Amino acid sequence: MPAHISSAPGKTILFGEHAVVYGFPAIAIPVNARQAKVKIFPAIRFKPEEIRFSAPQIDIERYYSDFEPNHPFRIAVEGVKSFLKIDQYPACKIQIESTIPISSGLGSSAAISVALVKGLMEFVGYHPSPSEISNLAYQVEIIFHGNPSGIDNTVISFNKPIFFQKEKPLQFIRTKNDFSIVIADSGIKGNTKAAVAGVRERWKADPEKYNDIFKKIGLITTEAKLAIEKGDHEKLGKLMISNQEYLQLIGVSHPVLERMINIALANRAYGAKLCGSGLGGNIIALVEPDRANFISNLLLKSGAKQTILVTLIKGS
Ligand code: MEV
Repeated sequence: MPAHISSAPGKTILFGEHAVVYGFPAIAIPVNARQAKVKIFPAIRFKPEEIRFSAPQIDIERYYSDFEPNHPFRIAVEGVKSFLKIDQYPACKIQIESTIPISSGLGSSAAISVALVKGLMEFVGYHPSPSEISNLAYQVEIIFHGNPSGIDNTVISFNKPIFFQKEKPLQFIRTKNDFSIVIADSGIKGNTKAAVAGVRERWKADPEKYNDIFKKIGLITTEAKLAIEKGDHEKLGKLMISNQEYLQLIGVSHPVLERMINIALANRAYGAKLCGSGLGGNIIALVEPDRANFISNLLLKSGAKQTILVTLIKGS
């Protein structure tokens, strides 16, 4: 059994985060400039099912048998075993590394989940479809995040721009023009589980207000899909600004994110908003292609910890 390497991209949410948890649509794209990578090596001297995990970036150096029953990595191995009807997974060493910043809204946990379940299946000779990978990675995401909508594992498994709504058929989005997006990291760590739980608490306290906001975010997202398909930058930018206003209203923005958004808008970005669960993490700004480097540098000078330039390519 040869060594095996699998990888998965990061992601960013263009529209609809949080509302997507409540059944409204959201739009997400993969971020291939950042990747999670899983290397699996056969361990011939190990006993059967002895699996050694090494993920230095998250301080994990441990045998599989030492993980608590609902550890995400255990759920991944158990999920693959039960899907493939394997009694004992072959002894191996698993190395996990990632260039996706952790707790920043770029899908680091989902990318690790996807790369891990894909690697575990391919290592034993099974070549899974994107939806098989996504379904298993979702089980791992539940452990990481509590009540995820499933958008992160879906966009990362398919590695394409998606219009996603829970329990509805998945739609892929094709753009009519290139769209340039600057992703900028505030350096403030977000926490998806806490952000999603906080929104749920506030929703429970005032369901009418929150259901109305989620519905409006859903309408913005549906309009955004059309704007992307038509290649309409101006419209898409305005929709981002409206989406951000609702994200502020549900309490997931942050003064540092707002400052970065305002810098982008003051410098002729079409639109800007936080992306992902918020309370920190990244913003995205939709910009003219020839202003992407300028706006990226400006954000870095104003305190952004790093930036990533992404182009949503015509026809993709
Ligand atoms: C996280 O990337 C996006 C959220 O909408 C949570 C989810 O969809 O599971 C905040």
